[in-house]
Amino acid sequence: MRVGAYNADQVDSRDSAQRAQKPDIRLQHVSKRFRTESGIVPAVEDVTFELSDREFLCIVGPSGCGKTTILKAIAGLVPVSAGEITVFGRTVTGPYPDVGMVFQNPVLLKWRTILGNVLFPIDILRGGRKKAKGFAQELLELVGLSGFEGRYPHELSGGMQQRAAIARALVHDPRLLLMDEPFGALDQITREAMNMELMRIWMETGKTTILITHSIEEAVFLADRVIVMTPRPGRISGLVRVDLERPRAASVRLTPAFNELKGQVDQLVRGGMLESRRSEDVEDADSGGSS
Ligand SMILES: Nc1ncnc2c1ncn2[C@@H]1O[C@H](COP(=O)(O)OP(=O)(O)OP(=O)(O)O)[C@@H](O)[C@H]1O
Ligand SMILES: [Mg+2]
Repeated sequence: MRVGAYNADQVDSRDSAQRAQKPDIRLQHVSKRFRTESGIVPAVEDVTFELSDREFLCIVGPSGCGKTTILKAIAGLVPVSAGEITVFGRTVTGPYPDVGMVFQNPVLLKWRTILGNVLFPIDILRGGRKKAKGFAQELLELVGLSGFEGRYPHELSGGMQQRAAIARALVHDPRLLLMDEPFGALDQITREAMNMELMRIWMETGKTTILITHSIEEAVFLADRVIVMTPRPGRISGLVRVDLERPRAASVRLTPAFNELKGQVDQLVRGGMLESRRSEDVEDADSGGSS
C-alpha cells in the first residue's frame, strides 16, 4: 500500500510491467471553468492521472470539488477548458459509444418501461434488440430487479431506479464504466450487496472502471487506487494504492490492513480540506480580510 502527497510521477503507481502498457485513460493537466451569469467558476484545476486496462479507480472528495465534472469530461459530455483527455488512445472531443455511465441521478426515461430503459443504449447504437433483450434481463436479475421489467420508473423506489441505471450502463458491454455515486441512494445492507455484485461483474468482465463515492470504506473495498481531491477547485491531493488481495470478501472490512488504508484516505481528505481553508484564509488576508 502506498500513500502520499500527489505528484505527476505518481500518476501511474502500478508495477513496471503494467506501466509499460498503454494506459486506457489519460488525463493531462485537465482544468475546467464554467462560465455563469455571476462569473467564472473554476471547477477542476490541473488534474493529471492515468488508468491502465481493467483498473478500478475510485475518486473521493468533498461536495462540489469537481468529481462529476471530471467523469462527464472523460465521457465527452463536458468539454475541458485546458489540458487533454485520451481514452483508448483517442483524444476525447465529444461523446463516444464504448462507455457506460451511471449518473448521480438515475435519469430514466419515464415513458419507457424498466426493460425499455435498460435497452435504451442498444436502440441509440442501433444494436440488435432481440439479442440484447436476454442480456438485459440477466442484468436486471443481477441488480435484483427481475420481475420489474414491465414497470415504469415512477413505480420504483430511488434505489431501484439507480440499480436499473447500472444495468443500463452495462447493457452494450462497454470497455469503460463510469459510475457517479451509484449507491448513494441505497440502504447500507443493499449497498454492501451491490458492492459485492459490482466487484464480481468487474472481475468477470474486466472493465476499466472509475467510481465516485463519498464513502471512504466503499472506495477502499472496491478500488485498486483511490484518488482524493481537494475542495473546489478540485485538484488531486493524494492517492492511495489498495493492495488488498482479490477477490475481497465482505469480511476484509474488519481487517487491520483495511482500516489502515481507510485511515490513509481519511487523512488525505481532511488534509485537503484544511489546506484549502488555509489558502482561503491567505486570500482573505491578501484582499484585506473583509467580506
Ligand atoms: N453546468 C455547470 N455550470 C456552472 N457551474 C457548474 C456546472 N456544473 C458544475 N458546476 C460547478 O462546478 C463545481 C463542481 O461541480 P461537480 O458537480 O463536478 O461537483 P462534485 O464534486 O460532483 O460534487 P457532489 O459531490 O456534490 O456531487 C461546483 O462548484 C458546481 O457548482
Ligand atoms: Mg457529483
